[in-house]
Order: sequence, then C-alpha cells, then structure tokens
Amino acid sequence: MPFPIVRMRRLRNQPRFRAMVQETRLSIQDLIEPYFVAPGLKKRREISSMPGQFQLSIDELVKEGRKSAEAGIAAVILFGLPGRKNPLGSEGYARAGIIPKAIRTLKKEVPELYVIADVCLCEYTSHGHCGVVAKGKLLNDPTLKLLARAAVVYAEAGCDMVAPSAMADGQVRAIRAALDQGGFADTPIMSYAAKYSSSFYGPFREAAESAPAFGDRRSYQMDPASRRQALREVALDLEEGADVVMVKPALPYLDILWQVKQMSPVPVAAYNVSGEYALIKAAARLGWVDGERAAAEVLLGIKRAGADLIITYHAREAARWIKEGKWP
Ligand code: PBG
Repeated sequence: MPFPIVRMRRLRNQPRFRAMVQETRLSIQDLIEPYFVAPGLKKRREISSMPGQFQLSIDELVKEGRKSAEAGIAAVILFGLPGRKNPLGSEGYARAGIIPKAIRTLKKEVPELYVIADVCLCEYTSHGHCGVVAKGKLLNDPTLKLLARAAVVYAEAGCDMVAPSAMADGQVRAIRAALDQGGFADTPIMSYAAKYSSSFYGPFREAAESAPAFGDRRSYQMDPASRRQALREVALDLEEGADVVMVKPALPYLDILWQVKQMSPVPVAAYNVSGEYALIKAAARLGWVDGERAAAEVLLGIKRAGADLIITYHAREAARWIKEGKWP
C-alpha cells in the first residue's frame, strides 16, 4: 500500500501524538554516572579534555553524590587515583586505599546511591597496565589474584556491585569465587565483557592518570575489527557468572551492542566513554553542534541499539533534560 495511501508523516505531524508513538525512551533509571576520586581534601580539578568532569577528593565526591541523588541518578561508578603508584598497583586492593575509603564515606553520607566499583589496576600501577607485568608482558593469572582481592576489599567497604575492566581471562570467575568465599555471594558483577582497545579512552587516561608507560593494551583489550570475539567474550563471562555484561565503547560498536542484546540473558550495559563525551563537548564549544541535542541523540541511539544501562559522563545533564521532558 504505497503512496498516496500511505503517508508516514501522519504519525509525525503532531507533537503530542509523536510522543505517544515514540519507540525508544530514555529514563533516568538507565544512567550510571562515573566519578574520579583523588586523595586530599576540598580538591576538585577539572579534567581539561572532559569539560564538566573532575577529579574529586572524597569530601567533594560526597557533595557531587548528593547532587546526583537529588537529580534522580540511581547509580554511580567509581574510579580511583592512588596517592602513590607501584608496579603491583597495591593501593588498588589495600583496605585503606582511596576506593574503599570513598565507598565507605559515600555509602554513609548518601545511602540512596547504588555504588559500583570499577575493578582494574591500571590506575594504580606505575607502568599503567591493567595487571602484573613482567618482561614487558601482562601476566594473566597472577593478575587474577589481585583483581579478586580488590573486589573483596571493595565489597567489604560496602560497594553494591563490582565491575572488572582489566580484560584478564577468567577475571569474572576469579572474582565470583573470591566474593562467594568472602561472604559476598549477593554482590553482583558487571563485567566489561566486550571491551575494545580504543582511542576513545584518551581523555579517561588523562582523568585517571593511567596511560600505559610503554606499549599499548592491544594484547588484552579487543581488536576493533572483531565481532565473533565479542560474542565469545560475552558467552564466557556469562558462564563465569557475570550478572550484567558490558560493551565498551558504545558508539563505534553499536552493532556489537545490538548483537549482544539479542543473545544475552542478563542486562546489557554500554559505556559511552570519555572520548565520545569529549567529541561532543569540543564540537559544542566550537559552536559546530548543539551539544545538548547531540548528547541526547547519542544516548537515545545507545538505548535503541539495546543498552539496558548506560554509563555516561552526560548522566547529570541528561537527568535534567529527562526531568524537564526537554528531549525525549
Ligand atoms: C580501566 C578502564 C578504562 C576505562 C574504564 N576502565 C581505561 C582503559 O582501559 O584504558 C575507560 C573509560 C572511558 O574512556 O571513559 N581499565
């Protein structure tokens, strides 16, 4: 029944009805807001490549956390900057480390926030790689022990969920076993299952001061050209006990996200990463795009591609537009 019987514009002519037949809707419940926690007091340092994002001392984190909760944000994910880095990244799994402290304080001061702890070592190691390194190589199995220890320490501090992002083989199983043994059988794991080796992590590495001192992460993060590997990574993490699986970054991998959504029996998260945020902020500053509309469109696209949850630096602004009903 083609034209002139069918006129698609009949569904679009009136704003009220357009909203009623809207197929994808962004909700505040979809959003997870990332935070970078640094040592010190009353410190907030804006990250130059991520306008509006800061390294925060714990007291400042609490202030921001309150604002997130007031904005209706349900969950945050924490990344830590240690006071000191060393080859084994020991502050990453120390009970007195920056993340356990941040978790304890945030859970006490803003109990309504669901607190997720990223589990990785690259922020804590002096060489900037995600685990134990010897002779220029990342050693998989020794890394597992440290990741598992970190997860247990974060759970003890009271975090609601852990999110391993090191791309070590077997990390979900190792963490699940350690959590269960430590009495944390109820702490879920969101695994960075399909995490690609991406240039879009650049601003994050400035924020977390975690750029590798030598080489790159291509021996453990995924090749951007691969698709079947992503599906296999997800399948393995599910077998190992992942409660949520993630695709990261989001925008160049929406096809992967869509496919993971089709096969995953658990919720799927997408990480709208630092470089994706930086592109929009930079273009908006130059007046080349309407930053707010662009961000809203990106988040909607990620949701339409299958994300149940979106980790995004736009979370706070998005919460505002959603409340105002400004962008659908
Ligand atoms: C840690 C980690 C990274 C990101 C999240 N967890 C960086 C990396 O792998 O280099 C990137 C997030 C972002 O770019 O926003 N392994």
